Amino acid sequence: MATVITVAQQKGGAGKTTLAANLAAALARDSRVALLDIDPQRSLTRWAKLRMQRAGGVANVITASDVSGWRLRRELEKLKEAHDVVLIDSPPQIDTDARLAVRGADLVLVPVQPSPPDIWAAEGTLKIAADEGRPVRIVINRAPTGSKLREAVEADMAARRLPALRATLGNRAGFASAFAEGLGVTEAAPRSTAASEVRSLLGEIGLTAEASAR
Ligand SMILES: Nc1ncnc2c1ncn2[C@@H]1O[C@H](COP(=O)(O)OP(=O)(O)OP(=O)(O)O)[C@@H](O)[C@H]1O
Ligand SMILES: [Mg+2]
Repeated sequence: MATVITVAQQKGGAGKTTLAANLAAALARDSRVALLDIDPQRSLTRWAKLRMQRAGGVANVITASDVSGWRLRRELEKLKEAHDVVLIDSPPQIDTDARLAVRGADLVLVPVQPSPPDIWAAEGTLKIAADEGRPVRIVINRAPTGSKLREAVEADMAARRLPALRATLGNRAGFASAFAEGLGVTEAAPRSTAASEVRSLLGEIGLTAEASAR
């Protein structure tokens, strides 16, 4: 049975789709990975299509599905049976589908950019995960290296006992350029800092993409 990871955050543009795509691409090296895109913007679905068209020969296979509404629960069960990991990307609001996706998750990841509005928005998502009794971790995304803001945000989160992962993703152009090719950074630039960050994150949540580290 698959591990289900739902990426959720009510704040738009926090990096949900980028995170889901990069985790999927890194894991697809060694695992059977499925994506479930429940955001009506369908950005992750478009990434998956690009992947098939442009990167088909070089990228590992990822199943992509964009079912929503009443069919969502059954689709998730179906994907779980045939894959090792299911990654769910959700819209920038917690609607009925997103709540179901949180409920079905083994782990909810909440990307936040290191700024107060992102953290405030994350609190709503953390509460929903808590209501549903699901494990949840904040991922600091677009972290500027060594900035005062980042340190202040990290201290604030620690003081409020918010469950942030130690692994963070930096603000790196490589994330956008890999995405534009239907790839993850571990595929487009395996030796980059961005790729190391993705692998560290996977290690911290107990999933690995060892082979792509070589
Ligand atoms: N770590 C990063 N470094 C550089 N750019 C990033 C990073 N993470 C995300 N971005 C960029 O930020 C923008 C928003 O990212 P993304 O689409 O993943 O956010 P989202 O939370 O899925 O947004 P939405 O709420 O609209 O679905 C994109 O242009 C993406 O390329
Ligand atoms: Mg998105």
